[in-house]
Amino acid sequence: TNRTFTMLKPDAVEKGHIGAILEQINASGFRIVAMKLTQMTKNDAETFYAVHKERPFFGELVEFMTRGPIVAAILEKENAVEDFRTLIGATNPEEAAEGTIRKKYASSVGENAVHGSDSDENAEIESSFHFAGREMF
Ligand code: GTP
Ligand code: MG
Repeated sequence: TNRTFTMLKPDAVEKGHIGAILEQINASGFRIVAMKLTQMTKNDAETFYAVHKERPFFGELVEFMTRGPIVAAILEKENAVEDFRTLIGATNPEEAAEGTIRKKYASSVGENAVHGSDSDENAEIESSFHFAGREMF
């Protein structure tokens, strides 16, 4: 068993998709270990996505991720990181497999509804970025 970190991004929250996405996450065998509605500041988003700071879309990404609240959550399941990335689908919803969360709820490569950690190490870093120890169960 291990853990991954996710965010339901501002586009998904704005469109009222929190319930449907959490339903699919639960139905796919993930247990919610921590969860909250929160809004990232510009500084938070620049820190969280620091690995992308040289990319041409960095400014757009920070603008998007800070424009409204997100749902941040930690999820537990065997093989959590890889299985969650399979569940959400490709970064670009046009390339995402049928039935994946991004295929169903994302509108573009930028506004793609959901985040999933890309390694166990990053899952740990991202979880501690958003949650204190007493908020994880
Ligand atoms: P995350 O789970 O959110 O990390 O997505 P990912 O791992 O599938 O993609 P990646 O880490 O490469 O990119 C992080 C985020 O930057 C993406 O989810 C998008 O929101 C955004 N992004 C990536 N490529 C583009 C792009 O070409 N244009 C724009 N506007 N945003 C992009
Ligand atoms: Mg990524």
